Amino acid sequence: MYNDNPTINDIKDELNTGHNTPLSEERQGEVLEMDVKTGEASKRFYIESYGCAMNFSDSEIVASVLSKHGYASTRVMEESDLILINTCSIREKAEHTVRQRLSIFNKLKSTKPDLVVGVLGCMAERLKAKFLEEEKIVDIVVGPDAYRDLPGLVAGAEAGQKGVNVLLSREETYADISPLRLDSNGITAFISIMRGCDNMCSFCVVPFTRGRERSRSAFTIVAEAQDLFDRGYREVTLLGQNVDSYKWKNPESENQVTFAELLMMVADVHPDLRVRFSTSHPKDMTNDVLHAMAKYENICNYIHLPVQSGSSRVLDLMNRTYDKEWYKERVESIYKIIPDCAISSDIICGFCTETEEDHQETLDMIDFAEYSMSYMFFYSERPGTLAARKYEDDIPLEVKKRRLTEVVDRQMNMSFVHNKKDIGKTFKVLIEGDSKKSDQQFKGRNSQNKMIIFTKVGDYKPGEYCHVKVTEVTRATLLGNIVEL
Ligand code: 5AD
Ligand code: SF4
Repeated sequence: MYNDNPTINDIKDELNTGHNTPLSEERQGEVLEMDVKTGEASKRFYIESYGCAMNFSDSEIVASVLSKHGYASTRVMEESDLILINTCSIREKAEHTVRQRLSIFNKLKSTKPDLVVGVLGCMAERLKAKFLEEEKIVDIVVGPDAYRDLPGLVAGAEAGQKGVNVLLSREETYADISPLRLDSNGITAFISIMRGCDNMCSFCVVPFTRGRERSRSAFTIVAEAQDLFDRGYREVTLLGQNVDSYKWKNPESENQVTFAELLMMVADVHPDLRVRFSTSHPKDMTNDVLHAMAKYENICNYIHLPVQSGSSRVLDLMNRTYDKEWYKERVESIYKIIPDCAISSDIICGFCTETEEDHQETLDMIDFAEYSMSYMFFYSERPGTLAARKYEDDIPLEVKKRRLTEVVDRQMNMSFVHNKKDIGKTFKVLIEGDSKKSDQQFKGRNSQNKMIIFTKVGDYKPGEYCHVKVTEVTRATLLGNIVEL
């Protein structure tokens, strides 16, 4: 898997190059099945999810809504009465993949005319009713804030009426819906803490597809974390497009809960419950969050802090509202307050007007910030965004790709250097299950979110913690042995 001359696709696989909140690319298009089987269900739905962790988390809300209306999940598309595809619009490639899947569903529909096909998520929001014209097989189109309406829309479609609900909401957080965990390992889970995004990054379609930012009640978040812990889960990842701007006013006390306070409330559920979060925006990541991380052993020492570009001029065009110096200061504060913290990033290559000097500054940032890993992309113009309206997409594709390769190479070297520094260190690891290659080995993560593979010894089980001493590393993984402290 780790050959010496990897292609860009190998590299992407290895580094989990993907999307918004870190979620492995291998999960893209995953067929999701609930961990709870619904007893009396008479109909079956099949759901595929693409895009960020937020989308996967939304699919668990969709599963919950449908299960209350007599639908159970199936992994077998051919067995289903309802096919749903939860879509992503972030780059053109993501939309292309969805169109390809729709043509596969189309073949099935020609043999099964009663089958209902629904498009959910960001692409539904972006294209709205146009979807019904463009893709004749689609029966329902449902945006990210309209999932409560799904049962009604499905019933309409069953009666022969196509339906669309793409209304965005200023309030919807699905706070009262208990997600049905899909394809869960029973150990790690996502908790959505906010929805939407108010940052107008000029390259990004998200503010248009997911609407205005709103925070979910802190009480329901803590209750969900407690429930997960009681059911044996040992790690939660608090999800939002921009978690550091989480703000929720307690209607009873009028007290405002900040993200740092929320982190501590969730960490207080139990010392054995690990807490992660994603994604942080550099402009909002304050020191109180860093101090909360330093104070609580169970808040993991890992921050996904997308830089996007190392050039202040490009950052300004991207409307990121910080410059290179600001970002560097944030990185320095992280390492000062949490010396063993790992930082990861998102990087866009070939944004409008990007020069070779700008590109060089991005490469330099990888060295400065010492990212443990990054998600790296070349710029893909998205219709309706600020950049599409204001700037020319003027960097030729070959140049974008060449710069991306250089960025990937630089990051791969950095990841390797980063991992090599871990040789000889001992980490507390949450065991997630068998490694991909062998049932004689476990896989788990350390606080810094690095995957560690180690040989099974003793009575350790998934969901338990153990200590692992690192003996060898690759660019993507640590290898080691269990040690007793
Ligand atoms: N082109 C390329 N990459 C993009 N991203 C967002 N929009 C685009 C785009 N138009 C990347 C950013 C973001 C991540 C989720 O996807 O790096 O942080
Ligand atoms: Fe997630 Fe939607 Fe953004 Fe894709 S476009 S990464 S699904 S929020």
